[in-house]
Amino acid sequence: MQPKITDLIEMARGAGEILREGFGGQILVEHKGDIDLVTEMDRHSEAYLMDVLQRRFPGHKVETEESSGLAGSDGQVWYVDPLDGTVNYAHGIPIFCVSIAYAQGNDLVLGVVYDPMLDECFYAERGKGAWLDGRPLGVSSAPELKSSLLVTGFYYDTWTNPDNNLNHFSNLMLKTQGVRRLGSAAIDLCYVAAGRFDGYWELRLNSWDLGAGALIVQEAGGIVTDINGNSSFFRKPFSIVAANPHIHPQMLEVINKP
Ligand code: IPD
Ligand code: CA
Ligand code: CA
Repeated sequence: MQPKITDLIEMARGAGEILREGFGGQILVEHKGDIDLVTEMDRHSEAYLMDVLQRRFPGHKVETEESSGLAGSDGQVWYVDPLDGTVNYAHGIPIFCVSIAYAQGNDLVLGVVYDPMLDECFYAERGKGAWLDGRPLGVSSAPELKSSLLVTGFYYDTWTNPDNNLNHFSNLMLKTQGVRRLGSAAIDLCYVAAGRFDGYWELRLNSWDLGAGALIVQEAGGIVTDINGNSSFFRKPFSIVAANPHIHPQMLEVINKP
């Protein structure tokens, strides 16, 4: 069975409701690594989404963060982040979301990112456009880095991997109005799609972090590539540069300068 965008919106809103209800209360937090956390609410949100997917779309493959997902057809694949922004959530910072993408083969075709605290639902359909709660989304028109506001993120190996993005962060800080670090890759991407940020980059992610948000940026008129400028960004290590068409090449130039 083929999903519709309304199916993804309904699922993301359902999971977002679970996250909103648990936010700010006493929640169990565990460590997956030194600075990589998982809360009981990540698991509740994921259990809800997996249950819906199993019942409504049997035979589809699911990649998700907190479990091994579901085996299924490579032709119909879901990329699910039940809580993007876990460190924020664990600290009581209200910047987090649910991210759900659906792909046919390697083509991302549907994507939804729902922020339950602001009640903002971003979504896109390949070839049809991107919207925020029914209003069409479009990237900014900032022409150059010095008039841009960027956002980035850091993988959980920052302490130990010398390729930890701090060099690009400081280089771009010195050429732009600023670089933010919100703590949710999916929200970062949607804010580029909405023209709130002019560009976003990150060196290593997972499929579920960027599947939905990348499609939303593309459908909002943005350019999305990997860190080297290749259009096939949706593969390991899932590096990404997503920006308006003026800023994108300028970001690549700074990031890849010798
Ligand atoms: C993380 C967030 C963060 C990004 C990390 C991601 P999580 O996802 O999106 O902004 O910098 O690379 O892993 O762990 O909160 O789902
Ligand atoms: Ca994530
Ligand atoms: Ca997550």
